[in-house]
Amino acid sequence: MNPLTSAEHAHEPLDESLQGLPTVVSGTPTNTRKLYLESYGCQMNFSDSEIVASILNDAGFSTTRNEAEADLVLLNTCAIRENAEQRVRTRLRQFKKAKKDRPQLVVGVLGCMAERLKESLLEQEKLVDLVVGPDAYRDIPNLVDQVQGGQKAVNVLLSREETYAEISPVRLDTNGVTAFISIMRGCDNMCSFCVVPFTRGRERSRDPQSIVREAHELFEAGYREVTLLGQNVDSYKWNVDNKGQVKNPEEPVVRFAELMERVAMVNPDLRVRFSTSHPKDMTDDVLHAMAKHENICKYIHLPAQSGNSDVLKRMNRGYTREWYLERIDAIRRIMPVCAISTDIIAGFCGETEEDHADTLSMMESVQYEMAYMFAYSERPKTLAERKFEDDVPAEMKSRRLQEIIALQKVHGAARTKALVGHTYRVLVEGVSKKSDEEYFGRTTHNAVVVFPKENAQRGTYVNVHVDDCTPVTLRGKITTAEAII
Ligand code: SAH
Ligand code: SF4
Ligand code: F3S
Repeated sequence: MNPLTSAEHAHEPLDESLQGLPTVVSGTPTNTRKLYLESYGCQMNFSDSEIVASILNDAGFSTTRNEAEADLVLLNTCAIRENAEQRVRTRLRQFKKAKKDRPQLVVGVLGCMAERLKESLLEQEKLVDLVVGPDAYRDIPNLVDQVQGGQKAVNVLLSREETYAEISPVRLDTNGVTAFISIMRGCDNMCSFCVVPFTRGRERSRDPQSIVREAHELFEAGYREVTLLGQNVDSYKWNVDNKGQVKNPEEPVVRFAELMERVAMVNPDLRVRFSTSHPKDMTDDVLHAMAKHENICKYIHLPAQSGNSDVLKRMNRGYTREWYLERIDAIRRIMPVCAISTDIIAGFCGETEEDHADTLSMMESVQYEMAYMFAYSERPKTLAERKFEDDVPAEMKSRRLQEIIALQKVHGAARTKALVGHTYRVLVEGVSKKSDEEYFGRTTHNAVVVFPKENAQRGTYVNVHVDDCTPVTLRGKITTAEAII
């Protein structure tokens, strides 16, 4: 299985063990300079790396997995939690030695950490030559030239328009079956704990035609699943301004539900996933669109963050516990079968033991298939850093986090077990990690299924009867029986 294109962590910073792997593409034979690109953080960063590879491919670079032969090393970084930045700093120290032996080597930091720290990164990390924020990737070739001319180079300008809409991403380390499509950039939500609005700038949506075209091209190239990406896909809008006014009356308005339907109609054999949904904005029309199209996967990542309304208010999430649970009811009402996952933060400012118990009780009532769980990490410049004290002691945060993880483990295992005994339509994504004789794929609910290959082909759909499971993986056999979903 290919970790970088796996949709296993479809909505979130990728599993720690999968982060930071080099991404590779061979350029045209005339591309003599070599780029070594490492990506950290969420899927949007991985998707951006494909834009960067495309821009640099046009500028004469081909990518390599071997950092020793690189002329240019770029780290596409994440700033979401303190430890995400620590990992990058550790990695940069490793490049220090390489640079001693190869003074021509250019080392650059891209992404959210570049945007957060700007020029100060050059002083803090003495070996960094290049600092480029998420909206300035078109400028990388010029900046590299500037560095080769002996200067340090920085471009961290954020944009209100940039969506890289017409750039064809170079698919990195692809399995040829699943791909990401960025549909928007930035975030306007200002959740009080979150650094993203500062590192990614204002929310803007990409034009629907270029999104649908990209989906078509991917399908033609053999891809069978696309994940539409945005920090808050439910607020995708085209031809409407931030006040809800139509910009051009001659042109149609497109919101997320319609965009998703347009992508679903590219081909019934193209599966559609999306992430991330925001509880305050996830409307029933999105759920009805999901119910209507078989190829829109029945899986929603709906980050709750906390189960207590006071904490949610301090987090500036824009919903209460009751509102969130009503959205869960709406999912269950409109789609009889739909997997739900979440993000939870343990130990946010002012969180009491009772507030924490509310999070656990909410988990009990939802019974999530899967969750990404974090201890609160204070981030500079955020509303929480300015307004609230980070007053939950580290050991308490960690104990609460462990309780949340332990409970989720029970729910996740029960959810997986409940899928045993039925037949599902599975998209074959690749060879199983454990055995060459087996494939792995996913159900519509994003559950991973492992099964003997038989004569199946990667990138096709097979019906698999599931007869066994571990807490996170289903096992089964290809069957001619009909799938229940
Ligand atoms: N746009 C998505 C989240 C993107 S960040 C959404 O609104 O749901 C991914 C997750 O990281 C968040 O959902 C949150 O759970 C976690 N996170 C963000 N900032 C954090 C912080 N300062 N400390 C701990 N976890 C954080
Ligand atoms: Fe951050 Fe909130 Fe935006 Fe998500 S919606 S990226 S948590 S500010
Ligand atoms: Fe993503 Fe990390 Fe930036 S989660 S948006 S890469 S801060």
